[in-house]
Amino acid sequence: MSDEINAAIRAMRRSYGDEGLSESAAGDDPIALFARWLAQASANPYIVEANAMVLSTFADNLPASRTVLLKGFDPESGGCTFFTNYNSAKARAIDANAEVSLLFPWYAMERQVIITARAEKVPRGESEEYFASRPWSSQIGAWASDQSMEITGREVLEKRWQEISERYPEGSVVPLPENWGGFCAIPHSIEFWQGRYSRLHDRIRFIRSNDGTWLRQRLAP
Ligand SMILES: Cc1cc2nc3c(=O)[nH]c(=O)nc-3n(C[C@H](O)[C@H](O)[C@H](O)COP(=O)(O)O)c2cc1C
Repeated sequence: MSDEINAAIRAMRRSYGDEGLSESAAGDDPIALFARWLAQASANPYIVEANAMVLSTFADNLPASRTVLLKGFDPESGGCTFFTNYNSAKARAIDANAEVSLLFPWYAMERQVIITARAEKVPRGESEEYFASRPWSSQIGAWASDQSMEITGREVLEKRWQEISERYPEGSVVPLPENWGGFCAIPHSIEFWQGRYSRLHDRIRFIRSNDGTWLRQRLAP
């Protein structure tokens, strides 16, 4: 069985296309380029949830990664906002070390974007506004889950969901839980990767200087 799996994994091999990323196409503004790539990924029918990004944190000497959804993008600062439980493992990790990485895996376009950023909590009003826009069942779900805590079984969640849904029946205003809200990650660096033939991929990285301008570099693939 493990031989078969290994043979299958080794046989997985794609050659990447001809669409390159030149310095002139990348331009000088990585935030504008990111917005363009995000729009293209969102319009691509082969990409499921183009706004899904892998958030990595590093705290207590341990790396941890998980997917979250991009729910806001600031075209000025490049700030990427996601929402979560402020008592979750990721939120605690960010409290300990605000430096994070965000990775957008747009494989169907042979693209990847990696951002390094500093995360900070968004103002509560912004979280309230977003929370109010969520479907009722997701609002109840946010109340019902002590995200990242060990539970004895699924019935714990279902029971809690039932209790909260009786407290805030469908159609009523569900308040924002105290421990729930957004983080905005402001980029220091943004790397754009475009797959190319013969594994000679294009990698263009921008690093933000102290004066706010961006330094552009080409990296070996
Ligand atoms: C496609 C996808 C989208 C997700 N979006 C979110 C999100 O926006 N916020 C969130 O807290 N968790 C989201 N999750 C769940 C997280 O990946 C993770 O399981 C959860 O947040 C707990 O992570 P933690 O224990 O590291 O804090 C998503 C998972 C997937 C697969």
